Amino acid sequence: MEHEKFSYVEALKWLANRYNVEVEETELSPEIKIQQQTADSLYILNGFAQQFFSDVLFNQEEGQDIGLSYLKERGFSEATIERFQLGYNPSAPDGFAQAAIKAMYNPELLQKSGLVVVRDGKTLDNYRGRIIFPIHSPTGKIAGFGARVIRNNDRAPKYINTPENEIYIKSKLLYGSYFARQAIDKANECLLVEGYTDVVALHQAGVENVVASGGTSLTPDQLRLIKKYTPNLTIIYDGDAAGIKAAQRGMDLAFEEGLQVKLVLIPGQEDPDSYVRKFGAGAFRELISTGKKDFILFQLETSLASASGDSNKKAQLVNQIAETISRINKAEDFTRQQDYIRRSSELLKIDENGLTTLVNKFIRERIGKFETKSPERGLATEADSTGKIFIDEELNELLNRDEQQERAIVRSLLEFGLKPWDSGKTVADYLLPEFEDEDMFDNKSLIRVLQLYKIWYEQKLEPTARNFLYHEDQELGALVVSIMDFPYEVSENWKRVYEGKIPTREELYAEEVGSTLTYLKLRKIQRLMDLNQKDLEKSKNQDEQLMFMQTHLHLKQMEKDLMVKSGTVIVKI
Ligand code: UTP
Ligand code: MN
Repeated sequence: MEHEKFSYVEALKWLANRYNVEVEETELSPEIKIQQQTADSLYILNGFAQQFFSDVLFNQEEGQDIGLSYLKERGFSEATIERFQLGYNPSAPDGFAQAAIKAMYNPELLQKSGLVVVRDGKTLDNYRGRIIFPIHSPTGKIAGFGARVIRNNDRAPKYINTPENEIYIKSKLLYGSYFARQAIDKANECLLVEGYTDVVALHQAGVENVVASGGTSLTPDQLRLIKKYTPNLTIIYDGDAAGIKAAQRGMDLAFEEGLQVKLVLIPGQEDPDSYVRKFGAGAFRELISTGKKDFILFQLETSLASASGDSNKKAQLVNQIAETISRINKAEDFTRQQDYIRRSSELLKIDENGLTTLVNKFIRERIGKFETKSPERGLATEADSTGKIFIDEELNELLNRDEQQERAIVRSLLEFGLKPWDSGKTVADYLLPEFEDEDMFDNKSLIRVLQLYKIWYEQKLEPTARNFLYHEDQELGALVVSIMDFPYEVSENWKRVYEGKIPTREELYAEEVGSTLTYLKLRKIQRLMDLNQKDLEKSKNQDEQLMFMQTHLHLKQMEKDLMVKSGTVIVKI
């Protein structure tokens, strides 16, 4: 896994294949099976095509005269050409098509691969007279091709690429990732260029930690692929504005994925390929290490320059940058966030503390949006990152400070307090400590019931509902009567478990007490979160703010753990 940068499954398959061990996979649905068979066939066909194109390039006259000489003119060595498995598709209209048909490849598959096109009933080569760049999957199989014309002309597109199919999913591939993965790991940096030829030329010059996006903005899957190898992404651009625009999209996402994005502009009219050829690998490395700019700050600098004194635009920029910086909201990236705030406020010539406040506002807004479904204070209803868990609607209700809930809790205690819970202790032993904090209950009369219960319990008197009824305080007696009459229960969910058969409350006291305990704990966590939130809003001190944010995350985690642990309050889908 480490060596090839494979996932566990990829590593298993690779080893199995290498040592001819059959890997038995779990039974798949028929559709997925067909899809997988198509994918396997496409890989095999692409492998066949690559060999065909390479053979033409090296061993046939047209390939040598046109293809190989072109590549050599551009300065690519034979070793490099072989490593990247470059090839040439002859100009005869169906040289490859004939070979593939002869080799019994299915016509439908041939079309799907994009290697051929059918015109007027004839199957023709799609990449006639073009240089072939195989595009490898991260594990080294050929997923598709880029085919370049030899002489640029206006009538034909410079590159034709494989159409999207079962294995060529452009948004998930990065050209060169297979050849770069170890170097990226070693350098702990991934260089991103635009073109196939840039990757090949840099490799040849000994700069191997490089991949190409194919001139489009990065997709989330591509960012994740990079993140697997390194958090440091350096985008190399040849100065044209279109390229930078393309890179800007998706950068917020890169930021959230925790990638540190830097930017290097190549001066003049050069691209990485022509630059290394002209000035050599040493100069290129020098350019990267000295010319590296932080992407966010670079973006800010350029927009600031174009805003040139327009105070409206500047205000917009301040908001934008605060929004962007607020996306680094992981506690461990706190220094990074501070650094951005400091440097941006310098660039913008604004007060650093003011920017901090603004950034915090955006963080809070995002936390708010993420955690509550409805505008009023409630509990997370959002799916977690795996999308598997959502929280029962009822829990939301349950957690809003609700008189009825408080009554239900007191009833649990009155009814079941003396029953055994665990390790020789009673339900009351567990519940009573939860009420230590008087603020736990909004209804102060209920607190009186609890206090009295506690006193009786400690004095080994019988704190049952009946004894409350006879208490001299009539009000207390009436309250207890109304509580015992009240049909509301802490958790309704258990009823579903016992479909049809409605057991008595007596039989189910364990469930009810369990729910009550969970509820009390969740409520305590919520109260702490509220307090913490208020402190955060009040705080002006940055270290303090960090502490409050960490506390929030910690409480949030406790809340989640608790909900996952207690099956009664979450529903799995
Ligand atoms: P470039 O035009 O910079 O190509 O496009 P290049 O790779 O540097 O090729 P040379 O050096 O001119 O021979 C950058 C990338 O954009 C995609 C390709 O992935 C190319 O490598 N592209 C470009 C296309 O897919 N189709 C095109 O028609 C042009
Ligand atoms: Mn180029």
